[in-house]
Order: sequence, then C-alpha cells, then structure tokens
Amino acid sequence: MGERREDSYRVRAAEPADAAQLVALWNGAQPGQATGEFEQALRAVLRSEAHVVFVVESDGVVGCIHGAILPMLGEVRTLRLFSLIVAAAHRRRGIARRLLGVAEAWARAQGCETCTTADASTLPGAGDFWRSVGYEHAATAEEYRKRLPAV
Ligand SMILES: CC(C)(COP(=O)(O)OP(=O)(O)OC[C@H]1O[C@@H](n2cnc3c(N)ncnc32)[C@H](O)[C@@H]1OP(=O)(O)O)[C@@H](O)C(=O)NCCC(=O)NCCS
Repeated sequence: MGERREDSYRVRAAEPADAAQLVALWNGAQPGQATGEFEQALRAVLRSEAHVVFVVESDGVVGCIHGAILPMLGEVRTLRLFSLIVAAAHRRRGIARRLLGVAEAWARAQGCETCTTADASTLPGAGDFWRSVGYEHAATAEEYRKRLPAV
C-alpha cells in the first residue's frame, strides 16, 4: 500500500562459516577456481588485518568482494581488489556497485588514496562494470608466472 519495498540485500564482513557458500559463488563465476585449500586460505585472509572480505546476503551469500592493503615500495597506499563476484541470478541490481562502495569506504578509513583491480578483462562484462563505477584502464606490466618444483 504505497510502502517502499525493503532492500533484501545486506552487506557484512565475511566469516569462516561462509566458506562453503563462497566456494559455490566462486565456482559459479569461474568453474574450478575455488580449490581444496579455499577454506584454509579464507581463514588466513580473515585473520589478516591487511585483508578485507565483505559478503552480501539475501537468501544466503550472493556476492563477495576481497581486497588487501599490501605495503608497496614507491606507491601510494592502495587497496588491491582480488575478487568481486555476484551470483548470476542477482546481477544487474547494483550489488557489485554496493559491495565496492563498502570496500572503498573501508579503504579510505584505512588511509588509502587509490583502489586497483587486475584481471578485469577475462570475464564477460567485467571491464564494462569497472568503467561504469569510475575505474580507468591502467596499462600495467604483463604477469609472468612459474610453477615452483616440489620440495
Ligand atoms: C562483474 C560483476 C561483479 C557485476 O556485478 P553486478 O552486481 O551485476 O553489477 P552492478 O549491478 O552493480 O552493475 C553496475 C553497472 O556496471 C555495468 N555492468 C555490470 N555488469 C555488466 C555487464 N555484464 N555488461 C555491461 N555492463 C555491465 C552497468 O553499467 C551496471 O549498471 P546498470 O545495470 O544500471 O546498467 C558480475 O557480473 C560478476 O560477478 N561477474 C563474474 C565475476 C567478475 O567478472 N568479477 C569482476 C572481476 S574480479
């Protein structure tokens, strides 16, 4: 009766108990990405003061953002974002924008001057999302990687 519908999405800090739902979320976005050590890694990330993980839930966890402030030589204090995922059924409702806003506010409170993200080009729609929320494409160095031999 003319009442505003209550927003059913709630953003909160992630907890170790979210691990199983985060695995499902990650594998939904990029199958096979969340491997066996995910829960252990999540626990370590949540214990670390440098890292931040927020989740958004409605009927369960439907999105997450993970970043960290890692001191770098010769660089202003920066929040580096490693993942931002919204479950397919909940996309285009402003959830990622909202998660990012919460993470950016956290970063500002921690004295960060900038926020960066990598790997935006590989997933469909990701580049469009970042541009729409005010991020500029930065030409950074290509990454080289080596799998270390077992000890
Ligand atoms: C990219 C992603 C996080 C966006 O989540 P979302 O909650 O749907 O994004 P929002 O609703 O907040 O979108 C905000 C704006 O970004 C842009 N945008 C988002 N997804 C887009 C897409 N697929 N194509 C084009 N523009 C897009 C739009 O401008 C959108 O505003 P609008 O809906 O009013 O047009 C989501 O699609 C996702 O999880 N993808 C898989 C994982 C991924 O690519 N993560 C980012 C790299 S780590």
